[in-house]
Amino acid sequence: MLTGRNIVLGVSGGVAAYKAAYLARRLVEAGAAVRCVMTESAGQFIGAQTLAAVTGEHPVEGFWDEPEVSPHTDLGHWADAMIIAPATAATIAKLAAGLSDNALIATALATESPIVLAPAMHTEMWNNAATQRNVALLSADGVTIVGPDRGALAGGDVGPGRMIEPEEIVAALSRILEGDLDGIRVMVTAGGTREAIDPVRYIGNRSSGKMGNAVALEAASRGAQVTLITTAPAPDALGIEVIAVETAQEMADQTWSRATAADVVVMAAAVADFRPQVAGEEKMRRADGMPHLELEPTPDILAGLAGMEDRPFLVGFAAEAGSLDGALHKATTKGVDLLVGNDVSRPGSGFATDTNEVTIYTSDGAAEHLPLLSKREAAGLLWDRIRDMRSQG
Ligand code: CTP
Repeated sequence: MLTGRNIVLGVSGGVAAYKAAYLARRLVEAGAAVRCVMTESAGQFIGAQTLAAVTGEHPVEGFWDEPEVSPHTDLGHWADAMIIAPATAATIAKLAAGLSDNALIATALATESPIVLAPAMHTEMWNNAATQRNVALLSADGVTIVGPDRGALAGGDVGPGRMIEPEEIVAALSRILEGDLDGIRVMVTAGGTREAIDPVRYIGNRSSGKMGNAVALEAASRGAQVTLITTAPAPDALGIEVIAVETAQEMADQTWSRATAADVVVMAAAVADFRPQVAGEEKMRRADGMPHLELEPTPDILAGLAGMEDRPFLVGFAAEAGSLDGALHKATTKGVDLLVGNDVSRPGSGFATDTNEVTIYTSDGAAEHLPLLSKREAAGLLWDRIRDMRSQG
């Protein structure tokens, strides 16, 4: 399944490095040509000779004393994809910062091919705010993060931080390289709309755009042609076309005018239902007394899409607080193919988090509850469902 593919395997210095040889073997068995690049500390956990024996090529260990003049750019250009496994906290931090002080990071910066990164570290280090920040940055840059799992860690600890199994890394890589969404035209909306009250103030909501970004990034990494219509900062990655909007009306205009050119529309945006009837041209002053805001409804973008003749495959979102009954109702009444519901009052599932616990509903009301996952992983499973439903016609 990876026949003829050139894969660079970057190995950094954690105990899970011992699994890198097995991972390299699985890649070779899947038909890939594999070349390794390892950090100095990886050498404490696995011998270069072992990787050389499995791949047939001596790994790159540094910038100097290598046969190539520029080993990192050679590898970067050669790669159809790069895997970094295990990725330690230090390697993740350096990559997020673009700090290429070793051949592994330099190769990752020098490649324009997709990168799959499998973190491995102690639970505390994984949960640390700096690590989470760096992972979120890399994810937004288009790096696919797989894992980590829960399990036994070095020193007898148990918890999240264990490197995901090599088979799952190969599967994630294959999905990216095979491009199971190849050629599909996707439109994603993201972020919360802002409805002007006056030139300074607006009616808004807490949506950060992270879930929509994850849905867009995942689709793009799997070969889809993606347009992201968003009010939020967008990832600058993988050729995603970004259309910046602010209001529900602007989002509606952009979405509706492009919908006939889309195969799938995912409405992850939190769209205001009401806006001020009149937005003041001048800033309202406290001295003018209590303002009186008259509201009017905004366009229902999803309803407009659902009513289209020959409409695209439609995915709605429903951020509920407390119970998902509202999401189930929306799934069966809004004319969508799938509806993703989440309870924003649950820990780890709110706005602006990097994780989400969602339930995916079909229009007949059948529900599939997913565990708490990173938004990117949840997006991955959502795209699996979309792909399968579309192929069943
Ligand atoms: N949506 C939309 N246009 C709107 C409001 C919402 O397209 N004006 C979309 C959202 O992007 C989302 C779905 O509709 O995919 C459900 O949004 P939500 O606000 O939960 O739905 P409402 O029907 O507005 O329900 P509620 O009464 O809970 O606000």
